[in-house]
Amino acid sequence: MWRDLVCELEGDLAPIIKRFADLFGIEPYREIQVFDCRLMNLNRIQSSIINVTSQENDIPEYLIDQVLEGDCLERLREIPDNSIDFVFTDPPYNLGKKYLGYSDNLEIKEYFKWCDHWIAETARILKPGRTCAILNIPLWAVRHFLFIKTVLEFQNWIVWDALAFPVRFIMPAHYTILCFSKGEPRELPGLTGTAGTFYLTSAPKTFDALKPLADNYCLRLACLNKRKEGNINDHTTLTDLWTDIHRLKHNSRRVDHPCQLPPHLMYRIISIFTKPDEVVLDCFNGAGTTTLAANQLRRKYIGIEALDKYCLIARERHAEIIAGLDPFRKEERTLTAKNSPVPRMLKQKYEISKKTLQLEVKRIANQLGHLPSRDEVIKYGEYSIEYYDKYFVSWGEVCAAARTTGMTENRFSDNQLQEMIQLSLLPEPES
Ligand SMILES: C[S@@+](CC[C@H](N)C(=O)[O-])C[C@H]1O[C@@H](n2cnc3c(N)ncnc32)[C@H](O)[C@@H]1O
Repeated sequence: MWRDLVCELEGDLAPIIKRFADLFGIEPYREIQVFDCRLMNLNRIQSSIINVTSQENDIPEYLIDQVLEGDCLERLREIPDNSIDFVFTDPPYNLGKKYLGYSDNLEIKEYFKWCDHWIAETARILKPGRTCAILNIPLWAVRHFLFIKTVLEFQNWIVWDALAFPVRFIMPAHYTILCFSKGEPRELPGLTGTAGTFYLTSAPKTFDALKPLADNYCLRLACLNKRKEGNINDHTTLTDLWTDIHRLKHNSRRVDHPCQLPPHLMYRIISIFTKPDEVVLDCFNGAGTTTLAANQLRRKYIGIEALDKYCLIARERHAEIIAGLDPFRKEERTLTAKNSPVPRMLKQKYEISKKTLQLEVKRIANQLGHLPSRDEVIKYGEYSIEYYDKYFVSWGEVCAAARTTGMTENRFSDNQLQEMIQLSLLPEPES
């Protein structure tokens, strides 16, 4: 998520290009080639919508407000065409997650064949004008997009900045929520921005699902409450970039499932796309975040989940709502299911500290009057360039300390440099 770059997409892309150069500017990537595809006049191909009738069907009573155990493809067959108001789903990502009882590790072609199958089923059961929202990692979302647009109509590509763990050089920080409607999307207060606040009997009352928190405001409940007491407006306009909802990090908020979504994500998405009493379906219901949030928001729900252990957890939590408890409350729990199997970066041992290297670059920058290039650090620096290559993820990081002086990359001309060398501001280059 690059939110610090100001760049007009129709105009000069230099800030973005510069960021890429910084990121990949260390050996062996010494050259960056930029292809400006805007000159190619690419147009989005219209979706080929299949047969949307205006007919709506009822759902058999036995399926309403239930968490159904079983394979989603099997159980979805029980749902009539054109009968569901909103599908949200968070499928297995095929990344080797440790679910109980099955492998999250299919051959990739098989995985997408399977996904296309259940996506087509969710399109079938949606009522006309209603929305199907699918959460996934961006890489898979690109592939899903290609299939979904053959059966539904594109509505929104929502980016959820879920604040990931520091596991790679460029941290994977966001998920995609693809929203497609069956034919023309219907008008909803949440979509037109006219929905009022809503009241949850058993969930945090300070969270207004439709009005995101403005940048730089703290998300902690105590801080939210304090601002509320002080009548401070900390909200901003809802866009397709969601940065104010964190993943569930603390075990006290999690139950025994490896990848539960935060309830606030579901409060927001359900209140945007549905009205009270409508039916929300999740065919990978896990520990029940979708159906529980729907239940709390006075929607009807159908959850489908393959594993009985997770069905049981979800059902118990629905029973808590009936008993007047918040199923997402904080509680001491001993969990066996761990989040995130992604290996972390190994701890690095430094012969020269990164701070020393950065200060050295600052010194060179002060001499040169600009942020030094790699060649300039080789030429004027005291330490071997190998340290910089080994310890830093980008040239931007190498220059971080020098930047604090307000120094830019603007270079002096050769003549100016010569002048500075003659004035002994710079060391004589080695011959
Ligand atoms: C990413 S998790 C969903 C987590 C859920 N959003 C939550 O917050 O608890 C995916 C879930 O899909 C279930 N699942 C996997 N294959 C399935 C299938 N064929 N039919 C139904 N559920 C399946 C897994 O057991 C897992 O609980």
